[in-house]
Amino acid sequence: MQLFNPPENLQKKAHIKSMEQYLEIQKEFEEDYNNKWLELAKDNLEWFKKPEISLNGENAPFYKWFEDWEINAAYECIDANLEKNADKIAIIFEAENWEVTKITYKKLSQQVNKTANLLKKLWIQKWDRVALYMPMILESIYAILACTRIWAIHNIVFWWFSSGALEERIVSCSAKLVITADWAYRKWKAYNLKNTVDKAIENIDSKPKVLVIKRNNIEIKINENDYIYNDLILEESEVCEVEKLSSEDLLFLLYTSGSTGKPKWVKHSIWGYLLWVKLTTKWAFDLQKWDVFWCTADIWWITGHTYSIYGPLLNGGTTVIYEGVPTYPDAWRVWEIIEKHKVNKFYTAPTLIRSLHKLCKDLPKNYDLSSLEILWTVWEPINPEAWNWFYEMVWQKKCPIVDTWWQTETWGHMIAPLPAVTPTIPWVATLPMPWIMANILDKNGEDIWYNKKWLLCITKPWPSMIRWLWEDDEKFIKSYFSDVKIDWKPVYFSWDWAIKLDNNYIKITWRLDDVINVSGHRIGTAEVEDIISKNESVAECSVVWRKDKITWENIFWFIVIKKEINKKQELLSEINLQLRKNIWPIVKLDDLLIIEGLPKTRSGKIMRRLLRSITAWEKITSDISTLENPKIIEEIEKLYNENI
Ligand code: WT7
Repeated sequence: MQLFNPPENLQKKAHIKSMEQYLEIQKEFEEDYNNKWLELAKDNLEWFKKPEISLNGENAPFYKWFEDWEINAAYECIDANLEKNADKIAIIFEAENWEVTKITYKKLSQQVNKTANLLKKLWIQKWDRVALYMPMILESIYAILACTRIWAIHNIVFWWFSSGALEERIVSCSAKLVITADWAYRKWKAYNLKNTVDKAIENIDSKPKVLVIKRNNIEIKINENDYIYNDLILEESEVCEVEKLSSEDLLFLLYTSGSTGKPKWVKHSIWGYLLWVKLTTKWAFDLQKWDVFWCTADIWWITGHTYSIYGPLLNGGTTVIYEGVPTYPDAWRVWEIIEKHKVNKFYTAPTLIRSLHKLCKDLPKNYDLSSLEILWTVWEPINPEAWNWFYEMVWQKKCPIVDTWWQTETWGHMIAPLPAVTPTIPWVATLPMPWIMANILDKNGEDIWYNKKWLLCITKPWPSMIRWLWEDDEKFIKSYFSDVKIDWKPVYFSWDWAIKLDNNYIKITWRLDDVINVSGHRIGTAEVEDIISKNESVAECSVVWRKDKITWENIFWFIVIKKEINKKQELLSEINLQLRKNIWPIVKLDDLLIIEGLPKTRSGKIMRRLLRSITAWEKITSDISTLENPKIIEEIEKLYNENI
C-alpha cells in the first residue's frame, strides 16, 4: 500500500512536528490520563475559575469532566482574542451575490454583545432554549454567540426543513424564541422563511416569540409576537456582561443527522466541547495565525458549528463563510472563492470533491490555487478515484489529503492524520489523535484482530464525549454503551465497522447499518460503490439490497450517470465483472436504475434507508424534509415502479 508523506515544509511550521512527538503525547496520556487532560484544559482556555479536578466517572457512562469551574464560550471565542487580535479579520463572509463582508474580532464582539442585550430584552434568560431558523449569514453567527454569552441554549434548525420538522424541533426542546430571517437565498432563488416559521408555531400553545432579521424591504406579515431585529438592535449597547457558567453546563443542542434512523437531540457541554474543538483545530488543522480557513459545511451541522465557527474563533483564526451552495451555478464558484480569499486550508466532504471532479475535471487549471496547502475531508471515506484526481489535478502531487473521522457525538476529530506528521493512504483515516484511546474490538473487548472488520470503539472517556441525550438516558446507554464491554465495563461504541491494518492504521469501512448481507457474507455498501464508481459511465451510485427468494438479500443498484448510456444490460455485465474481480464472485448486482440524482442530506450523505424502502415497495413515512432534494424521492419511486 502506498504511503504519502507530508511535505517537509509543513513540518517546519507545524504545531506538532514529528511522529516522535505523537508517540510521546500518546505515552504520557496512557500513563497519566486524567492529569494530562487537566493540564491541557488549564493551559488552553481562559477560565474565570481554573479547574482542579478532572474526570468524574462515578455515574458511568454519564461521565462528567471538570465540574464546577467557570467559563463562557463567547468569551473564549471573542474576548480572549481582543487584546492581541482586535483588528484581525475573524470572519470573511461571501454572499451568493458576491458581496464580501469582513468582520474583525472587535466588530464581532460589538455585534454579538448587542444581539445578546437584545435577547435579554426579549426576556431570554439562562437555560432558555432558542431555536435558530436562519440562512447562512453573519447575523446567524452573532445570534449563536449571543446565546452563549448569556447562556441561552442554541438549537439550530436547518432552514431547508419543512414547517413540520421545525415545529417538532421547537416543541421537543420547548424553545422560547425562534430567530429567523425574512428571506433566504439559495441557488439564486429567494425563500420566505418567515412564512414557514409562522406555520410551524401556529399550533404551538406556548407561542414562542419570533425575532426577524430583515434582509430587504419586501413587506412581510408581522404578528403580535414578532420583533424586528434591524430596528431593535440599533438601541442596544455594545457592552454585555458575560454569564459565568460551570463547565459541565449545557452549551447547545443539536439533532443528529438522521441519516440512520430517527434523529435525536444530542447534548453538548461547554468545557469538553470548547477544549476539544480548540485543540483539534489547532492540531488536526494545524491552524496558524496567518491561515485563511474554509470549511464548506453548513453551520446547522456539527461540522459547521465546530469547524466553521467555534474552532477557528477559539484559535483567533480567520474563517470563510459562504452563503450559498459551493457548486452553484457551477464548480467554478469553489475555485473562485479559494482564489479570491487566498484560502490555504480547505475542509469539505468527499461528495463535493466528487461533484467538482464530475462537473469539470480540468477547471482548477484556470484558477490560481497556489495558496492552498492542505485538504481535509469528512463524512465518509474519500474514494481513491476522487482522491487521485484532487491529488494530481489540484495538488500537483504536492500537498496532503487528510481524512478525518468523527461523529456528532464526539464533537471533534477522533481519528485523523496530523497533517505535517502522519503519512496518509487514500481511504484510511490513519491513527487516533494521540490524546484519544480508540481501538477495533470484538464484543468482549478483545483487540487481536488485524485486517478484519470489527467494531470501532473509544475505550476511555474523553472530555468532548456526548453529554447524553436530551431527556432520554435509557436511549443514551442503549445507543452507545451496551454493545461492547471490556472487563464487563461498557465502552463507547461508534456504530462504525473498521479494520486495523498491519501498521496499526484504522480504515473506517461503513456503519453497522450500511451493511449488505449476501449469503451470510457482510459486505459494506461503500466498498461496492467505490468499485462501481470506477466505471467510466458512472458519476455517482448507491447500492441497496432487496429480498431475493434464494439468498434473501440481493444487491440492487441506483446510479447517476455521467455518460449517456443506452445499453443497460451491457453496463450491468461490465460492472459485475469489475465486482467479481475486485470483491467476490458472490457480489453481483441483480439490476440497476439510472436516475438524475441520489437522495442526500444537505451535508451530502446518501440516504440509503430511503432507497431501501423504495426497493421494498414500502411507503416512505419518515420525514424527508432534511433532504437536499426531497423531490427526487418521488421521481425515483416513479422510475422504479415503471422500470423494474
Ligand atoms: C458518521 C458520523 C463527522 C462529523 C459530521 C457527521 C461517518 C464520518 C468519516 C470518515 C468514514 C466517516 C461515520 C460516522 N464518517 N467521517 N472520515 N470516514 N466514515 O456526523 O452525522 O454524526 O455522522 O459519519 O459512519 O459514524 P454524523
